[in-house]
Amino acid sequence: MIYLDNAATSFPKPPQVLQAMTDSLRHFGANPGRGGHHLALQAGRTVEKCRDAAARLLGAKPERVIFTRNCTESLNLAILGMLHKEDEVICSHGEHNAVLRPLERLVSRDGITVKLLRPDARGLLSPDVLRKAITGRTGLVILCHASNVTGVIQPMRELGAVCRERGVPLLVDAAQTAGMLDVTLDSLNADMIAMPGHKGLLGPHGTGLLALRDSVRPEPLILGGTGSASESVRQPELLPDRYESGTLNLPGIAGLLAGIELVTQQREAIHRRECALNDRLRQQLAGIPGLRILGDEHAPRVAITAVVPVSGDSSALADALDATGVAVRGGLHCAPAMHSWLGTMRSGAVRFSPGPYTTVQEIDDTAALVARLMRP
Ligand SMILES: Cc1ncc(COP(=O)(O)O)c(C=O)c1O
Repeated sequence: MIYLDNAATSFPKPPQVLQAMTDSLRHFGANPGRGGHHLALQAGRTVEKCRDAAARLLGAKPERVIFTRNCTESLNLAILGMLHKEDEVICSHGEHNAVLRPLERLVSRDGITVKLLRPDARGLLSPDVLRKAITGRTGLVILCHASNVTGVIQPMRELGAVCRERGVPLLVDAAQTAGMLDVTLDSLNADMIAMPGHKGLLGPHGTGLLALRDSVRPEPLILGGTGSASESVRQPELLPDRYESGTLNLPGIAGLLAGIELVTQQREAIHRRECALNDRLRQQLAGIPGLRILGDEHAPRVAITAVVPVSGDSSALADALDATGVAVRGGLHCAPAMHSWLGTMRSGAVRFSPGPYTTVQEIDDTAALVARLMRP
């Protein structure tokens, strides 16, 4: 089996992640933050250690790093918690349905309006275009850091600087960049960064993070027990408790801690290697007749390559690859606005995304297999 679907979730997970998850369940699987016995305290310390490690990585205050189930929940919390009736929102063609669907609900329910920024021919957003789009009614700018279809990375620092200059909060969807690029509140000029724990941070499924700057205070999505201020029926104002009702995912967070520790030490080396593998794959795929590679060749990108057979069916190619042991993602990748911009709404695309454990041999074997499958 060759796994080239790391943009969906990284696999396999590092052995340290598996070990940390089993250790937590085996040795201190109590409820973190609930009760004063030593097992609950040990579970609580693991959660706070993970929060501290994430806070250092993201340049955030620890109490402003919120645990969620995935990037979708982080985005929902930020979007539904920040926007008011009749606000205007600016976002891009790169947004995932995790952004577009909550926005769609607010459009029909609360009369918000959504402006989609037009990228240039390379797929890059211009700070000037963003500056012109912002009005007095703009309540939030939401931008995807790197496309999960083309891999193209947006100039987020410059775009964020425009948001700061105009006093509008910026929410960055870092699903494809957290753990790969320098993703901090300051480096992106962001007010909120949403990310999964299970992709580039190498943690398990069911983990996500939302980092908040002091400037923002979204309404919580879920209310309930936090193990704190239990005498009151009012949701605590204190962070992170305000946003973390209900039992936390201890084994997930223990695994995420191991992933973040690894990424903190090796982020640049892992990313460099993944990009080299991705470039190698792109070069080989570019030599195959009848295959269109999506996204500008020279734009900055993370390790993602999507292709479309010019006269054929991309899902048939994805299925044929799967039948021969290569796991890739076909279809629309939950990114309808991007596929509509690329003109690939009907065909979809086949996405290859190498990860930390992909080998050169696997890349070469995959390219050879695609060449064989594309032969008439
Ligand atoms: C750009 C982007 N945003 C959001 C998400 C949603 O992430 P999750 O599956 O962790 O909810 C993804 C997942 O692929 C993504 O690629």
